[in-house]
Amino acid sequence: MPKDARSPKKLRSNRAALTHKARYALSHPERVVPHLRRAARDAWLRLRHPDHVGYYRAVMASDARRDPEAAVGSRSHDRWLALGRMQFDYLVEHGLRPEHRMLDIGCGNLRGGWRFIDHLDAGHYYGIDISPDILIAAKRTLTERGLQAKLPHLTLTGDLRLDFLPDGHFDVVHAHSVFSHSPPQVIDECLGGVGRVLTRTGFFDFTFDRTEGAEHQVLREDFYYRTDTLLSLAARHGLHARFMDDWEKRPHGQSKIRVSRSPLPAPPL
Ligand SMILES: C[S@@+](CC[C@H](N)C(=O)[O-])C[C@H]1O[C@@H](n2cnc3c(N)ncnc32)[C@H](O)[C@@H]1O
Repeated sequence: MPKDARSPKKLRSNRAALTHKARYALSHPERVVPHLRRAARDAWLRLRHPDHVGYYRAVMASDARRDPEAAVGSRSHDRWLALGRMQFDYLVEHGLRPEHRMLDIGCGNLRGGWRFIDHLDAGHYYGIDISPDILIAAKRTLTERGLQAKLPHLTLTGDLRLDFLPDGHFDVVHAHSVFSHSPPQVIDECLGGVGRVLTRTGFFDFTFDRTEGAEHQVLREDFYYRTDTLLSLAARHGLHARFMDDWEKRPHGQSKIRVSRSPLPAPPL
């Protein structure tokens, strides 16, 4: 997503509306054919996989086989490195220490993950994903970075209930660019489980595609939420939630929310 995605105009646009699509096609004619290809794939995969996880797993299978770095949303290797560094620097600035235990939801091919694995003590990184293809690519990243001795957990999951993980275990839970591809029921399920696996002082950071207009989705791949919707959802699960203003300064199209079991001190301005 381009970094001007947070401009006031973009924050109000509804990408699912016909008028938006027509205007977009006129100003970006080169993107019409790729979009039509995605729409055809969407229609076919919807038929084959009525459930969202099955559908998105199939999307990842098709994208990851071609190029795992593009499958997690990076146009180039340099961008893949930069996006991983952005995630890493932010969490280290927010206090991530080697002795902490971290759960990376939708870890992909370890764009941020390899840096977290390197930073954390052995066995303290736990990555989960719904895509077997991207987890195979994750193991390749781990090998290329020579991080075998860090013994990270990389686990395939079919849902986000997190019921196979222990109570009060993780200091940091992280989901980067995952809820931007998730319908409300998946986010609800995750928020329903995350409080149990967090330590009392831990937090869960997730990014999302923010809209200040009508909530909408593009195909079944991209979902746009209002901040209040997600803050209220977290509150319904008895969690504290806060919009992270300092993330807005980073050159990234998505916004970030932090969720915790107990109220947390405000980050430094
Ligand atoms: C855009 S990629 C981001 C990957 C990684 N977080 C990063 O920043 O590089 C989204 C990842 O989330 C995974 N994913 C999507 N929906 C998921 C879900 N419901 N549960 C777990 N993983 C999911 C996808 O398979 C994919 O690997």
